Parts: sequence; C-alpha cells; structure tokens
Amino acid sequence: MKKYLNIDLKLLDLEKISKINTDLLIVGCYKGNSSGKIIKILDQASHGAIKKIIKRGDHKGLIGTSLSIPTLQGVKSERVNILGCGERTKVKSLEQAIKIISNAVQSAKSSGSKDAYIILPRIKLNNQNDQWLSYQIGLIAESSCYSYTPKLGKSKNNLTKLKKITVIFTESKNNINDLKKELLKGQITGQGVNVAKELGNLPGNICTPSHLAKESKAASQKYNNLSCKVLGEKEMSKLGLDCLLSVGEGSAQESKLICLEYKGSSKNKKPFVLVGKGITFDTGGISLKPGNAMDEMKYDMCGAASVLGTLQIVAAMKLPLNVTGIIPAAENMPGSKATKPGDVVKTLSGKTVEILNTDAEGRLVLADALTYAKRYKPDTVIDIATLTGACLVALGNATSGLLSNNDVLAKSLYNAGLNAGDRAWQLPLWDVYQKDLDSNFADIANIGGRAGTITAACFLSRFTEDFTWAHLDIAGTAWIQGKMKGATGRPVPLLTEYLLNQIK
Ligand code: BES
Ligand code: MN
Ligand code: ZN
Repeated sequence: MKKYLNIDLKLLDLEKISKINTDLLIVGCYKGNSSGKIIKILDQASHGAIKKIIKRGDHKGLIGTSLSIPTLQGVKSERVNILGCGERTKVKSLEQAIKIISNAVQSAKSSGSKDAYIILPRIKLNNQNDQWLSYQIGLIAESSCYSYTPKLGKSKNNLTKLKKITVIFTESKNNINDLKKELLKGQITGQGVNVAKELGNLPGNICTPSHLAKESKAASQKYNNLSCKVLGEKEMSKLGLDCLLSVGEGSAQESKLICLEYKGSSKNKKPFVLVGKGITFDTGGISLKPGNAMDEMKYDMCGAASVLGTLQIVAAMKLPLNVTGIIPAAENMPGSKATKPGDVVKTLSGKTVEILNTDAEGRLVLADALTYAKRYKPDTVIDIATLTGACLVALGNATSGLLSNNDVLAKSLYNAGLNAGDRAWQLPLWDVYQKDLDSNFADIANIGGRAGTITAACFLSRFTEDFTWAHLDIAGTAWIQGKMKGATGRPVPLLTEYLLNQIK
C-alpha cells in the first residue's frame, strides 16, 4: 500500500511549545476562545502578540479558517498557524473532530513547509479516549493526503514539500508507545482507505474485472498470509455460477470471481467473510440507464474495492483473525448476447431467478458469491455493495444502509460505524417485504416493491439462510458527486473497526 505521509506523535509539556524547532507550528483554537492553555502559553512567549491578534478580530476560530503568522517573536517555529476549530461545544460531533484533523493536515500540506508540528485542543467525544484520537489522527491524516495517482504523473504541482508531521499531545495519561501504536494502526487503515479510493476512481476501461483480479493477485504477493485464487468464466460455468455469469454476458470483458484468504489465526477458526460487489461498469444492460451521470457507474465496484482495501489492512496489521474476501466481478453491458428482461437463470444455490430488470444486477452477482461463501464455513458474512439508488434517497451521502438477519451483528456493525466515523443505519428486513419478490416464472424475481433498498436485501437474504449475515448498501457513501467528485474509501474504516473488535 502506498504511504502518503510521514507522521509521528510526541508527548510534550505545554511550556515547551514555544521552543519547538520546526518550519510550521499549527495550533488549534476554538471560536472566541483566547483563554485556552495553549494560546496562553504562546501569548506569554510572544509577549502578548497572540491575544492582540485575536482581540483585533483577525482570527475568530471559525472552522475552516486559519491565520498564518510568518514570524512570531519569542516563538522558535518559523511560522505559526492558528487553526479555527469552531464551537467548543460542538466538538462532541464526530464530523467536527474529523474536519479539525483534516484541516490541520491540509494546511500543513499547502503551507510549503518541510515539516510541521500540530497541537490540537482536546478533542473528547463521548467515551472516546486518547488512543481513539491517535487512531483517528493517523487515519484521517493519511487518507486526507490521497490524490489520484494517474493524474499526478502528468503534473507534479500536486506534490507537497511536506516531509513530516508531528502531532503533539500536551497531556495524556496514556503510555506514549501505546498511542504511537494506535497512530500507526490508524495510518494503515488510512492506506487501505486510499487503496479503495484509487480503485474506485480508475475509469471503467482500466478497472475491469481482470484488473481487479490482477490487483488482488499483486496484493497477495505482497503479504505472506494473504493468498488469492481467481475463477474465470469457464470455471464458474462448471461450478454453476450462472446467475453471476448472466450479468457479464453482454460484455467483452471476462467475468471473474476473486477469492482472497488471509490466515492470521489457527486453521480451525472460522473466517469472517467479506463479499464486495465488483461491477466495474454498470450501464444497466438491456434495461439501459439514462445518460445523466452514467459515468459515475464506474464506482459500481466500490464494494469490491473496500474488500481489497480492508484485506490489505488486515494483512499489514497481521491481525490474529482469519478473513476471507470474495469479489464477484463483471461488467454490465447491453449486447447481442446480453441477458434480457424476462430471462430466467439458475443460481448456484439451485434457486431460479426471473430477471425482470437487468439493471438490478448487483444482487445477481452477489447471490452466487454469497452461496459460494458457504464453502469457507464462515463465522459471519458481510457483503458490501453499491446496490440501490433508493439507499441514497433514504439516507443520503452521510450514512450507509445496514440490513441483517442477525440483530447482534447489526448492532456491532452500527457501533463500529459510530466509532470509526463511518456510520451505517439499520433498515428492517421483515418478512412482509419478501412477497414483493414473488415471480410467476421462477423462484424469485430480481425486482419488486417500493422499498428498493429493503427488497434488494430481501433478495440477498434468500441466499444467506445458512449463516449470520449483514449487508451494507454503500450507494450513497462510496463516492462524492459534483466538483469534488471522487471515491471516499468508505466503508473501509467501519469494516476495519468491526474486525479489530473481533480480536478477543
Ligand atoms: N449500481 C446501481 C445502484 C446505484 C444507482 C448506486 C445510482 C448508486 C447510484 C444498481 O445496480 C442499480 O442499478 N439498481 C437499480 C435497481 C432497480 C432496477 C430495482 C436502482 O437502484 O435503480
Ligand atoms: Mn444496475
Ligand atoms: Zn449496479
């Protein structure tokens, strides 16, 4: 995994802040708060210069603002940057904490400095401790440094001079080495997030099912405990994954089933299985999508990308768990051989499906991949998919959809999302919705009903009856639209948090 940032953590007495020998000292300051301890110390060292600036109204502490001071008498750092941290009371919200950390890193990057020290005011969320904060700093710092690398090749102006960031904790009851370990873990998670972003952002003509297979193989070669097996169309046909294969029928690109196995625990320990939707481009097939924003359907493999990112994190951290990744990969295209509305296909499970809409293809590839997951005798299975536009309508860009056949699993994924700053919200998977999928010509129809996200999960539930399973619909969270268009790397932080919590 590519590492964008060199970051370290130090414990330092408040009094020593003015003596730090660095290019840039970034100091967080709440709105209207000129009496914070850190500000006081700097003010004393600079003989009242800081408070003068704040009194004059040059810096109001608003979030997203910062004031750069080229030289500050009495303070050793070349430059000082006072970073707005917003309302002190609002720092209870995860969003603000994340903004503060990424703003600090961004201003270090854009400052032209070679190294920077960052001192943030105390961020204390709910019951979170300094270890959590260290992890988040590592994660946010690394992931906020990502930029799309194919673009970097052409123009180098994206490159920053910044070589190193040091984060200062001025008081902590924790052992410095424990905090550093958490920082490093967070940074590794950030690297996995960036893996998912990069794969998501690659265009559909590059990121094909074969490309996902190649990247998975490459990852397995980098890590000792990670192995990779790829099935092509012939092998899948032999095994009976006809439902998966029906999706790629209209495409010149060969469909693949990618299986990654990480073994960090004893052989007889059941694995956690992650299944990621890998539609490398979704035109809708014969049920063609409208042209508007269709380019964004290159992101229809973000579930797969999150699996590949998470497995590399798990391998890099050498977690004492067994984790399996399964990626059904295909391109959904119209073509003379493409599946047509009304076609009936047989799934690996034996159940037949009437394909009423070829645009509801994600559930088709997942159905066979989920059945295939049984081979691994899973502890739990979590699938991750950009499955329904309806999920974006229900939950917007902030929250992933969460559905499960087990409320304990749902709860632990919900909690993992909260702690990781990568939230998911549970929707019901009650029996009343199942009848929407009745078909006159097969066991199940692939669409039906008004509650699109729920009926899609109902469809998947027909293939997960034998194990504990949850589904994450990331249609709204996997990428951002508009001027800042790009993959987010979600829900890699949630998945990683969940797996870390499984270590006993
Ligand atoms: N990949 C799409 C879901 C999607 C659409 C994600 C827009 C993000 C933004 C999925 O394959 C799809 O097309 N789903 C259909 C299902 C419908 C035909 C029942 C949808 O959501 O419209
Ligand atoms: Mn579709
Ligand atoms: Zn799709």
